[in-house]
Amino acid sequence: MNVEEMLSEISLEVSSCTLCELHHSRKNAVPGEGPVNSEIMFIGEGPGFHENEQGRPFVGAAGKFLEELLSKIGLKREDVFITNVVKCRPPKNRDPQPEEVETCTKTYLDRQIQAINPKVIVTLGRFSMNLFIPNVKISNVHGKPVQVKGRLVVPMYHPAAALHQGSLRPVIENDFHLLPKLIADADKLPAAIDEEVTDEQEPKQLSLF
Ligand code: URA
Repeated sequence: MNVEEMLSEISLEVSSCTLCELHHSRKNAVPGEGPVNSEIMFIGEGPGFHENEQGRPFVGAAGKFLEELLSKIGLKREDVFITNVVKCRPPKNRDPQPEEVETCTKTYLDRQIQAINPKVIVTLGRFSMNLFIPNVKISNVHGKPVQVKGRLVVPMYHPAAALHQGSLRPVIENDFHLLPKLIADADKLPAAIDEEVTDEQEPKQLSLF
C-alpha cells in the first residue's frame, strides 16, 4: 500500500469510528488533510464547532489565524498536513479525556505520522505537546525544538490561545518564524525511526538551535 492509500484508509476508518464516546455527539469526524509527502505536520487538539460541521481541521477562527501564521512564513495550508490529537469534537469543546486521547492516537494519529513521515511536527497546544513531551509547561518550552524518536518536534501555543490572550500573539508569531530554518536543518538529524524505538528514549533538547 502506498502512502496515499494508507492515508485514505485511515481517513475512511476515522469517518466511521465508534471506538470512543465522542462518536455519539459528532456530526463529522475530522481525519485531517494535506499533502501525503508533507515535510511538516501540525497537530492541534480536536475539532471544534466548525470543524465538526465541515469534517475539516482548523476551518474556524483558530484556523484563519493558523493560515495567517503560515502565510507569514511563506506557506499555505495546502502545503502542510494538518490534523488533531482526537478526530471527533468533544462535546462543548471540553478537554479530550485520557482514554479518548490514548485510543485515537494509537489507532489513527500514530499511523498518520508513520505514513507521512514528516521532518518536523508542530504541536499546537498542550494536549498535542504532551503526546511527545510529557510533564512540561508550554510556557517554558514553546518554540524550543526537541528530538523525539529521531524526529523534530516543535511545541507551540494553540492559535486559539493567542486569539483569547492577545499577549500570546507575538509569541506564537515568533515561534512560527523559527520554522523555515528548522525544516531546512531537519535533514541533519538522524532519520526518523518509528516503531522500533521504545519510549525509554527520553526526548532530547536540541542544543544546536
Ligand atoms: N482547534 C483544534 O485544536 N483543532 C481544530 O481543528 C480546530 C480548532
